[in-house]
Amino acid sequence: MKPYLVVYATRDGHTFRIADHIADALRERRIEVRTRNAASWQADGLFGYSGVLLLSPVHGGMHAREMIRFVRSHCSELLELSARMLSVSLHQARVDAPLDRVARLDPAPETPQRADERRQSEQKVRQYAAMFCAETGFPQSRIIPVAGALVYSRYGLLKRLVMQHIAGQMGAAHDTTRDYDYTNWRQIDQLAAELAQDPRLSVRGTGEPFSFRHFDQPRPAPHLHRVR
Ligand SMILES: Cc1cc2nc3c(=O)[nH]c(=O)nc-3n(C[C@H](O)[C@H](O)[C@H](O)COP(=O)(O)O)c2cc1C
Repeated sequence: MKPYLVVYATRDGHTFRIADHIADALRERRIEVRTRNAASWQADGLFGYSGVLLLSPVHGGMHAREMIRFVRSHCSELLELSARMLSVSLHQARVDAPLDRVARLDPAPETPQRADERRQSEQKVRQYAAMFCAETGFPQSRIIPVAGALVYSRYGLLKRLVMQHIAGQMGAAHDTTRDYDYTNWRQIDQLAAELAQDPRLSVRGTGEPFSFRHFDQPRPAPHLHRVR
């Protein structure tokens, strides 16, 4: 069996954590996996792989430059291999579940204002995907949005202040003494299990419209890591 390929981009390490988690889950199922950073890897070709999963964070409204370059260079192979891309963003966290300034163990209650914020965030996530697809030729139906993290411990002072401000505007946690992991790891585990069954996800999801509800696992409360 050919190895499975996971190509990621990351700025603060969170998207790499997701990529690594999926790779480990596949290896546990005896699937050979190669994990590569799009910033430093020059691929000769992709047909030596059974399937490809791409992962990119959104920063400043855009997916990672190196991922855009990678997908542009290999678009036809990626289409043939039925590749998917996980688009990791904070806005998707607000689509998954209402955000709260303080992380709570129980999810924050849905209110009309929060429903409105969710719609705004859905629109943002769609815009990020649409822009990526316009730049690369990658189909929007193959993008799976995933909630990211606020990793204040990794940010320098300026970035921490900027993110604290943005998080505050979005109603997300802005206590910078902690990191906030909004990723729905059950969703990630479910994806890994599906990939193990079918590396190209050819049965489920082919031709599906761009879907926020591709997975049915509810997100648990954000993980908290006290950093100072
Ligand atoms: C400087 C900066 C800019 C960001 N811009 C956006 C954005 O425009 N939209 C969004 O939804 N999330 C945004 N995020 C949240 C990231 O997508 C999220 O933190 C993700 O987990 C980052 O993944 P990484 O650690 O692999 O880089 C931003 C984060 C940072 C630090």
